[in-house]
Amino acid sequence: MFRFGVDYYPEHWPEERWTIDAQLMAEAGFNVVRLAEFAWSRMEPSDGRFDFEWLDRAIAVLQSYNISIILGTPTASPPPWLMAKSPELFRVREDSMRVTFGNRREYCPNHSLYHHHTNRIVSEMADHYANHPAVIGWQVDNEFGDRCYCPVCAQKFQSWLRGRYQALEELNQKWGTVFWSHSYNDWTEIPVPLTTGGSPNPGLALDYYRFCSDSYVAYQQMQIDILRAKCPQHFITHNFMGFKYDQLNYFDLARNLDFVTWDIYPRMQWTMENGVNPSSNALNHDMMRGLKSRNFWVMEQQAGPGGWEILSVTPRPGELRLWAYQSIAHGADGIIFFRWRTARFGTEQYWHGLLDHDGHPSRRYEEIKRMGAEIQRIGDEIFGSQVRSSVAIMLSYDSRFAFQIQPNNPRFSYAEHFHQIYQAFYQQYASMDIISPNADLSSYKLVIAPALHLVTEDIAENLKRYVQLGGTLVVTQRTGVKDESNMVVNRRLPGLLAEICGVEVEEYDSLSSQMQNGVEFTIPELADNDCISVGVLCDILKPVGAITVAHYTQDFYAGKPAITLNQFGNGRAVYVGAVGDTQLYDVLAKWLFGITNAQESFGISSDMEIARRIQGEKSLYFLLNHSDSPQTVRVTHPSQNLLNQMELIGEVQILPRDVLILVSDEGLDPLLKEMN
Ligand code: GLA
Ligand code: ZN
Repeated sequence: MFRFGVDYYPEHWPEERWTIDAQLMAEAGFNVVRLAEFAWSRMEPSDGRFDFEWLDRAIAVLQSYNISIILGTPTASPPPWLMAKSPELFRVREDSMRVTFGNRREYCPNHSLYHHHTNRIVSEMADHYANHPAVIGWQVDNEFGDRCYCPVCAQKFQSWLRGRYQALEELNQKWGTVFWSHSYNDWTEIPVPLTTGGSPNPGLALDYYRFCSDSYVAYQQMQIDILRAKCPQHFITHNFMGFKYDQLNYFDLARNLDFVTWDIYPRMQWTMENGVNPSSNALNHDMMRGLKSRNFWVMEQQAGPGGWEILSVTPRPGELRLWAYQSIAHGADGIIFFRWRTARFGTEQYWHGLLDHDGHPSRRYEEIKRMGAEIQRIGDEIFGSQVRSSVAIMLSYDSRFAFQIQPNNPRFSYAEHFHQIYQAFYQQYASMDIISPNADLSSYKLVIAPALHLVTEDIAENLKRYVQLGGTLVVTQRTGVKDESNMVVNRRLPGLLAEICGVEVEEYDSLSSQMQNGVEFTIPELADNDCISVGVLCDILKPVGAITVAHYTQDFYAGKPAITLNQFGNGRAVYVGAVGDTQLYDVLAKWLFGITNAQESFGISSDMEIARRIQGEKSLYFLLNHSDSPQTVRVTHPSQNLLNQMELIGEVQILPRDVLILVSDEGLDPLLKEMN
């Protein structure tokens, strides 16, 4: 069943109000709510005293309106009685300051006392709700994250390292601790990389980041184990923070969950100057789907302007519904809005829900109510349908962590580079999967691995097999520089990928903000393009079998190859040696689509997004107008708009911030033709 609902905090409102809320929810077509994920001090008001009565009553009210329940475990926000009694549970920041009470996420994920209290509250909840007919699943904690550098973590890190290296000599060698006299004689001498220790050994820092990620994965697993044992019929998930969050290996965190859910806020107070970039939403969704190669849910879909101290731009009419349909278009099988009613108190007073502070259903509520009626009609036709992509982009947490430690250039951001490339393909209407470096690549025509800085033998093998069998691989600057321990490889760059790419990096350059270079295309298909500017990081290439696609235009490496193409086995590898501006990736995306045949066979104006889900023999094309002017598409085969059952053919107009869902049984045939 397609789940459509809202995040609700009944403990924030008088009990007399609950029935009105439930009724308004039912009228909006909601069939699920998430409850309790910050209610620890209500469920365990003092050490070992549990009270679920209020929650039982809230659930009963919702249940009487046929609304199902997802319960959040409350461990993201520990109660004052626990933290005041045991201040050693507070997380220590990288700058060695211990956080204090007042926000949330203040705990150390490795502390055994926190584990004890976690076990107890989660077990009590699970026992209490295991057989409750309204409860369908669990969200573990809330938005895991934040590295801890406390003494407990330091000790756990040392045993984690023992497990990884077995012998201390091995660690000393892998980290190169001979440098600056860091050779360790005993595991207990190994520190955590606090900023007070200055720029850390890159091997140590990378292992620490991996350890911190593993710590949350293990902490989550502890909760999963309890819930699986006590509530085998319920699903278990966690609400992720999307692509931007870079401190946890999300592939690992997703592994033992039933499915991924995530929290999307296109209009936040912290990013209000940037406006909304639909390609960024899309990238996030594709990544969340990619974590398990499975459809996901949105656990917190924006319901109003975000705001803590500052108020964000309010979502324009139509945007909330448009963004929710965009989530669905990229593979969401459930949409839950955050939050129901805007809180009158607390840090998030201005993080708006569907109802205003005074409980009044807002314009936003009316918009989502309209969508609720649509979902009631069409939810079953969408639920479970699949997104299929012939293009994949590889996300490497090891590389991302390595760049956190050593960005190489102050203006280089792995995430921005990744997004820039994603966006170029998004604008060509490609459906993309975001996958891990170890993923099975066999179904893709094109695999792009942006700045794959750290390459292990396994990853190299995976890529080699893919190219050998006919795939097209694209890598970019600073590829293959590091080994698994974050040591620079003892080979010509791009290290383990040199053979597939048919190039050597002769030299590289890191450019100041005042410097730039250019690339000029040398192959006939691309020769019409003007010179495109590049900068930040430039690899100067020397082909060893590859052909030159573009060369640099300036400086001492003018004329040297910047982009190359190599035939390898039945496939090919493209090396893009420099960070470019948008234009570079646009040109490359078009060219790569041409040579790989990976492009979908439609194209329309650039303010529109098209995404497809496949249900059996049918394709559902989501046409999303992200602009504030009407857009026109030409529909070439008679097809139906699922949203209103209208038959469409020929020129069809899509209103500003509106959505069309075209159903076609034409399989993958072209349905939409280019307009200009
Ligand atoms: C996150 C959290 C929510 C809420 C919103 C708004 O996504 O999961 O609890 O705090 O942000 O800040
Ligand atoms: Zn800690």
